[in-house]
Amino acid sequence: MRGKDVTLDSVSITYPDGFTAVQPTDLHVEAGEFFSILGPSGCGKTTILRAVSGFIAPSTGRVLIGGDDMVGKGPNQRPTALIFQNLALFPLMPVWENVAFGLEARGLSKRARRARAQELLDLVALGDQGDKRPGELSGGQRQRVAIARALAVEPAVLLLDEPLSALDLKLRQHMRAELRAIQRQTGVTFIYITHDQGEALTMSDRVAVMNQGVIEQVGTADEVYSAPTTAFAASFVGEANRFDGTVQGVSDGLAEIATARGVFRGRNPAGLAAGDGAMLFVRPEAMALGAGENTLSARLMRRDLEGAFVNLFFDFGGQELAVHVTNTGEATWPDGDADVSFGTANAVILPSGPLARTGRELAAQ
Ligand SMILES: Nc1ncnc2c1ncn2[C@@H]1O[C@H](COP(=O)(O)OP(=O)(O)OP(=O)(O)O)[C@@H](O)[C@H]1O
Ligand SMILES: [Mg+2]
Repeated sequence: MRGKDVTLDSVSITYPDGFTAVQPTDLHVEAGEFFSILGPSGCGKTTILRAVSGFIAPSTGRVLIGGDDMVGKGPNQRPTALIFQNLALFPLMPVWENVAFGLEARGLSKRARRARAQELLDLVALGDQGDKRPGELSGGQRQRVAIARALAVEPAVLLLDEPLSALDLKLRQHMRAELRAIQRQTGVTFIYITHDQGEALTMSDRVAVMNQGVIEQVGTADEVYSAPTTAFAASFVGEANRFDGTVQGVSDGLAEIATARGVFRGRNPAGLAAGDGAMLFVRPEAMALGAGENTLSARLMRRDLEGAFVNLFFDFGGQELAVHVTNTGEATWPDGDADVSFGTANAVILPSGPLARTGRELAAQ
């Protein structure tokens, strides 16, 4: 099997009711890449997959796979296979027949189908489970059967739409490693959709962060986490402390932001100028106890022991600040007001913009 590259060339998608779910988008996924699209519910992830797989046509622009324009080609004429969130295996068929299901239409003999199914079951580490029924397998094993079935038709591009969301946390984490290994072994291009940042960051070669029909940032997991380019990406991927304010000066790739509670310095990747509305983001693990390049005085409110880490929550003039420190075993925590700080290189100052809603805001809906 060999992966093909996927290109979206000014693709936008407007549904018949007039709602534009995907704004004009340019995207290039390399052949053999594990590429994730990460974004909140309703941002347009599934809509993009439908356009790549051929279930809907783009309203503008073109989809190319392996350099070939897919216009006018239906799902069966494309070198793609799709795995849905709610996979449907045939409960009365043995596992191997489920895997070989798509091969009968291709005129393969039963013997050849069985042999091919065995290869694929070996690939997903279910080589000895072929004669069971799906109901006799665990959730993770069933998921692997679905992956084997999708790979049976030898797609160049496998499209996975939140395939792990029905599994419990342990299994999900286990399946991340499995999927990554299967992708490496087959060389098939994976386009993986999720709203789970942990999934996207751990498995992917590159991640696209999507919000409200727009892909805001594309980069490696490290780039997206350490160098977000939009306020949304900074607030959606990982945790971040945020300070709102106005840029008051810039120099050498750095900016100084005046906030209601002090002036702080950070990186200025967007090239903001004095007077621009801005937000400074700094990760909890980039904060430290004691004075530093940017120092503020806050009051410790709560201490959550995570084991290897301790999460400290400070009150900073009504705003909660999270500080994650390594648990050294010496339990000396600030009593009352204390200095906390962060390095200029660890803070990023970005244009003010829409933010990801927090879990608390979503729960209150
Ligand atoms: N057939 C349709 N007609 C009109 N609007 C639609 C249709 N399908 C989806 N939408 C809208 O398009 C937007 C994007 O939907 P989509 O299913 O792509 O989101 P998603 O990112 O996959 O979300 P989720 O994580 O919840 O699966 C949503 O606002 C949705 O309501
Ligand atoms: Mg979806």
